[in-house]
Amino acid sequence: MSSETPSTPLVTFVGAESGTWLIDRIEALTGEPIVPAKWLDIRSGDCAQCPNNWILRGAVSHARYTTSEESLKLTAKQPALGRAEATSAALIPIRKSAAWWALAQDERRAIYEERSRHTTVGLEYLPRIARRLHHSRDLGEPFDFLTWFEFAPEHEVAFEELLARLRASEEWEYVDREIDIRVRRVG
Ligand code: HEM
Repeated sequence: MSSETPSTPLVTFVGAESGTWLIDRIEALTGEPIVPAKWLDIRSGDCAQCPNNWILRGAVSHARYTTSEESLKLTAKQPALGRAEATSAALIPIRKSAAWWALAQDERRAIYEERSRHTTVGLEYLPRIARRLHHSRDLGEPFDFLTWFEFAPEHEVAFEELLARLRASEEWEYVDREIDIRVRRVG
């Protein structure tokens, strides 16, 4: 699900020496770290020539697990990206394990929502948090997903609470690489 669709579905996150978002910290929670960078830039389309410390690419795509009822609830509550007050953000690249990808669609949905309540829990934090999910697995990228969240600094505590709840869920037992990159918009 996306709260704002870019003109091309391909989005490139560039960790570099200049950019729009100042990187406050990069924490490797699970699996291999990535090299440091000072700034994060978000580009629509490919950016193979961009000077960078790292480049992560993902495509805004269709929902896999969302029911029509959940979709209506999300649409009613989710804010757009780019709100003036949302000067804090997080880029959280995630890879799921071979065991996850070996499951059938209905088994994944059962873990994702019936047992982990991902969408239900996430909805509690809307509209404080704006989000966009990018799929990377089919692009041959090092992560399966690039998750992006924007919020006002006063909602950082709520965002941390949401993260703690999701990371304690059964779904996260299948996360085998996760990096938490926190940024803020300056100027
Ligand atoms: C802000 C509240 C949140 C809401 C409302 C929300 C909702 C959703 C929805 C609707 C999907 C798409 C399911 C589909 O394909 O049908 C999704 C997928 C996903 N979300 Fe969230 N989410 C939230 C927060 C988070 C956070 C904080 C993280 C990471 C730390 C996260 C990580 C993911 C990942 C990795 C997927 C892809 C799951 C998969 O396809 O296996 N979400 N989320």
